[in-house]
Amino acid sequence: MIRGEHLTKVYGVGSVEVRALDGVDIEIAKGEFVGVMGASGSGKSTLLHMLGLLDRPTDGALAIDGVDVTRLSEGERELFRLQRLGYVFQDYALVPELTAQENVYLPSKVRGMTAKECTVACRGILDQVGLKDRAGFLPGELSGGEQQRVAIARALVNRPALLLADEPCANLDSRNSVLILDLIRKLNRELRQTVVMVSHEDWHRRYFDRVLFLRDGRIVEDEYGGDAPGTA
Ligand SMILES: Nc1ncnc2c1ncn2[C@@H]1O[C@H](COP(=O)(O)OP(=O)(O)O)[C@@H](O)[C@H]1O
Ligand SMILES: [Mg+2]
Repeated sequence: MIRGEHLTKVYGVGSVEVRALDGVDIEIAKGEFVGVMGASGSGKSTLLHMLGLLDRPTDGALAIDGVDVTRLSEGERELFRLQRLGYVFQDYALVPELTAQENVYLPSKVRGMTAKECTVACRGILDQVGLKDRAGFLPGELSGGEQQRVAIARALVNRPALLLADEPCANLDSRNSVLILDLIRKLNRELRQTVVMVSHEDWHRRYFDRVLFLRDGRIVEDEYGGDAPGTA
């Protein structure tokens, strides 16, 4: 599903170079639920940005779903993102002028669904993240946790082959965190959706098939195992 070789990202801040990713080799199989952990500043978001085609690596090769994504034009990358990827941003990135439902609606339109199908899909996923009665609210009328769940619904509405989520539970209480993790786990199992999720919380590890630990832009541990509730 994902094969990255020597993925490197160097940010230049004035004369100071920050090596946010330092030659990461990564291979993730279709249907894996992978957690990415590590201290703040270790390169977790940078790695997710590369996998989400939001930014280009300074060096290295990256193939997703058999496509060498480093060779795609900007337009092709955009289309690839819309058709195959779902992304939950650490800061939600909702459109403030649009309601929860309209925010979720955006990617579903690209799939060539009819307006009615989009509405059904949006309402369905908002219901699944526990926001059935908030569909008509603007982001500014929602709590941080509710906005985060709208962002999650938007990432899931197209049933993407690859879900990338940057600390999707950071602003959720434990009850809603469990709701979201159970939902992501369910879709991961039912649709064989590949999931790469950044997390700070140790208890999330029971959901992951595998955990990658980053330190200073490198993968320092790659651990299999985990015992998700309800799976053998
Ligand atoms: N746009 C940027 N410009 C300059 N430095 C950046 C930028 N984004 C991230 N960094 C730096 O790269 C390193 C990794 O950042 P990040 O991937 O956001 O870490 P994490 O998500 O693990 O907290 C940090 O040192 C951070 O300051
Ligand atoms: Mg981050």
